[in-house]
Amino acid sequence: MSTYKQVIYTTTPNPAINPSLTNGTFSIKTVPKPTNVPADKLLVRTHYLSLDPAMRQWLTAKRSYIAPVELGAVMRGQSIAQIITVGADLSSKFTPGDWVVAYSGWQEYALLGAKEVEKVVLPPGGRPTDAMSVLGMTGLTAYFGMTEVGFPKEGETVVVSGAAGATGMVAGQIAKIKGAKRVVGLAGSKDKCEFLVKELGFDAAINYKDADWKKQLKEATPEYIDVFFDNTGGEILDACLARAARDSRFVICGAISQYNAAKPQGPTSFMTVISQRVTMKGFIVFDYAKKYGTALQELASWLSQGKLKRKEHIVPGGIEGAPQALVDLYKGVNTGKMMVEVAPVSEAIKAKL
Ligand SMILES: NC(=O)c1ccc[n+]([C@@H]2O[C@H](COP(=O)([O-])OP(=O)(O)OC[C@H]3O[C@@H](n4cnc5c(N)ncnc54)[C@H](OP(=O)(O)O)[C@@H]3O)[C@@H](O)[C@H]2O)c1
Repeated sequence: MSTYKQVIYTTTPNPAINPSLTNGTFSIKTVPKPTNVPADKLLVRTHYLSLDPAMRQWLTAKRSYIAPVELGAVMRGQSIAQIITVGADLSSKFTPGDWVVAYSGWQEYALLGAKEVEKVVLPPGGRPTDAMSVLGMTGLTAYFGMTEVGFPKEGETVVVSGAAGATGMVAGQIAKIKGAKRVVGLAGSKDKCEFLVKELGFDAAINYKDADWKKQLKEATPEYIDVFFDNTGGEILDACLARAARDSRFVICGAISQYNAAKPQGPTSFMTVISQRVTMKGFIVFDYAKKYGTALQELASWLSQGKLKRKEHIVPGGIEGAPQALVDLYKGVNTGKMMVEVAPVSEAIKAKL
């Protein structure tokens, strides 16, 4: 009998994720591959799993924007997948071989309904994994956070934290496209900072692990900060708040520095919000679902024109690597969108022949 592997959420993290597959947060389960595909379902094969900082939040039963993953369930997550079999009722919409962004969870194969997949549509020069990064959730997050919440104007100073990550790198480039005078990125290594300035066109980048990073931030923002796109929270948010310009907009996109903390820390320089009339606004990308189409068109045209660059960090070696890769995401091993390669694309092409 043909089988496949699933990653099961097994033990609540306390507070950090334990990547061990024998006594950790997740375990591997082997299950039979479906032989019959129901009329209203698609059988998909997962190729690339998306790793997202929010996954840590999904493992904790708290009031949030989404229900937690249940213990014993397949770990939730998006993937780039290829349709293997199409149920009889769906044959007018899908064809075996179609590439989709799938709400598959962490498993090698999945039986999904039509609403759990989105066909991958790529612009010239696009590749399937773009649909899960620059033309997917992280690209859209950067787009709406920057254009709708931060809305930088010509001549303004924009600072982005987590700038070399999937969301941050797109956010900073959009600020440049929108005419910001000065775009400054904060990231966790010298190489990442060089990448931001030399390859993505940021005006400056600061390694927040340098001892004097706050001094560097001050020097890089001589006219203070008009828009802060925050992916990290914690000390970085605090330092940027202390540099807030009058009427600045603080886009609260994420707070990765606090996700694994037993007791998350808020900013101490919050009184700047009053003195400088700062607007701090949190948002969730799903709030803008009705506008995804227009946003994707614009992102795709920037990508095709070379105005928007992207990078991926793909962890090879199959689905067993996902728990460790998720832990590594919080350590910042990635530049760009972090994914796990469950099955290389070339195998899929071979399977089609
Ligand atoms: N609001 C929404 O709808 C929405 C949607 C998607 C994502 N998000 C948020 O956006 C942020 C970025 O997500 P992403 O998917 O694009 O991930 P990502 O930025 O590609 O990866 C996470 C990065 O965070 C940085 N990081 C980790 N720990 C840190 C710390 N203690 N302090 C500062 N930086 C740290 C690491 O880079 P360094 O080497 O620079 O430390 C790491 O590469 C996350 O906070 C996520 O939750 C929000």
